[in-house]
Amino acid sequence: MKEIVPPMPPMVRNEFETVRQLFRDHVVPTYARFDLAFVRGRGSELWDVTGRRVLDFGGGIAVCCLGHAHPEVAAAIADQAASLVHVSNLYYHEPQGRLAQALVRLIGPGKVFFCNSGAEANEGLFKLARKFGHEEGRFEILTMTNSFHGRTLAGIAATGQDKVKQGFEPMTPGFRHVPYNDLAAVQAAVSPATVAVMIEGVQGEGGITPATPEFLLGLRRLCDEHGLLLLFDAVQCGHFRTGEFQSYRRILEGHPEGAGFLPDAISMAKSLGGGVPIGAFWVRQEHANRLGAGTHGTTYGGTPLACAAALQILRVIERDGLARNARLMGDFLRQQLLEIQRRHPGLITAIRGLGLMLGIEFAPKDRIPALASVEKPVSLAMVERLHTAGLLTIPAGTQVIRLLPALNITRTEAEEALGLIAREVERLAHGG
Ligand SMILES: Cc1ncc(COP(=O)(O)O)c(C=O)c1O
Repeated sequence: MKEIVPPMPPMVRNEFETVRQLFRDHVVPTYARFDLAFVRGRGSELWDVTGRRVLDFGGGIAVCCLGHAHPEVAAAIADQAASLVHVSNLYYHEPQGRLAQALVRLIGPGKVFFCNSGAEANEGLFKLARKFGHEEGRFEILTMTNSFHGRTLAGIAATGQDKVKQGFEPMTPGFRHVPYNDLAAVQAAVSPATVAVMIEGVQGEGGITPATPEFLLGLRRLCDEHGLLLLFDAVQCGHFRTGEFQSYRRILEGHPEGAGFLPDAISMAKSLGGGVPIGAFWVRQEHANRLGAGTHGTTYGGTPLACAAALQILRVIERDGLARNARLMGDFLRQQLLEIQRRHPGLITAIRGLGLMLGIEFAPKDRIPALASVEKPVSLAMVERLHTAGLLTIPAGTQVIRLLPALNITRTEAEEALGLIAREVERLAHGG
């Protein structure tokens, strides 16, 4: 009988080329992967197939909120796996109920639906909005330019970036894009068919741009006036990344009208499971029973395994004060990055973000002699240089690199990352 998974030849095991060849031959090439293959991690450190150690400030794109191989999360997963991994949503089980309860406590009165990814959580919000407006024939959702909402057909229609749509037209109808942080533009775009507005609290893929307090509060008012749902995509910026469970709390901090702000629904994924796939949306009480039995579902949504991991992550974040750590480390990194920018204003054009969701925007390539002849966008070139230096970061668009590290990074790790970034920027400044 033919083996389904033939063992790797022992002599070449662990070599990067062997792993890459497996991908070239057998994996659909939808990703432009970097030349790195990892075998294990611990906290914010990763080791590749050659045994080289790098510091992970990409966090698996804002997923690994407690770093890699957290012993308590690993134990919670192992314990749950040893008793019950999956039963389907035909039945009840305690971990899903407990996790929903925890999320409601963190956000506000309402209910939670579980799924498996960010795109799927957003699909749920789109269906919620369609159901809400159905009887009046309203279906249109306004989303923002430069937004990112996932790779499903509705996700790319909702996303305000042309590059994700190309080749997949015609787009799913019912989405229109308006400029981010421009309340007048949103107001002008509302039509009789509009049913909802969707935003990211901090745009991630679009280049790390936080919403302004005025935009958030203005949107809430606008949605109330026109009977629209205010939908929050917190897939990347949620789960304490900004120093608060939800970014709007951090953005509205100290604002006289900020305390009462609440969206109508919030999508979550990424850090919710810390790497175990899980997505969810919270919907406020008023709309919590709008999606009734038979209207929506998914086989795997909120398995005992994924919920046990998510619950353990929440316990550790709370016990270890990691919201505060994200705030303190984020403020420290931001200050130091601003200092690097001050020394090199010609190379770095902006430092943006909140907490541990930070973006470094570089000047256009033609203004950086060391990169002028490089074919790649500046963001990719810088991410690769930092890989060589020993630091993982994530590109966003052509000009920005993102830092999305674990919420439990230490001051020593932050200093190490800053040292590597400063050295690379210095090298760039000297034409190297
Ligand atoms: C804001 C936002 N929404 C949705 C998604 C899609 O999530 P997923 O890749 O889990 O489908 C992402 C992923 O990067 C995201 O950043």
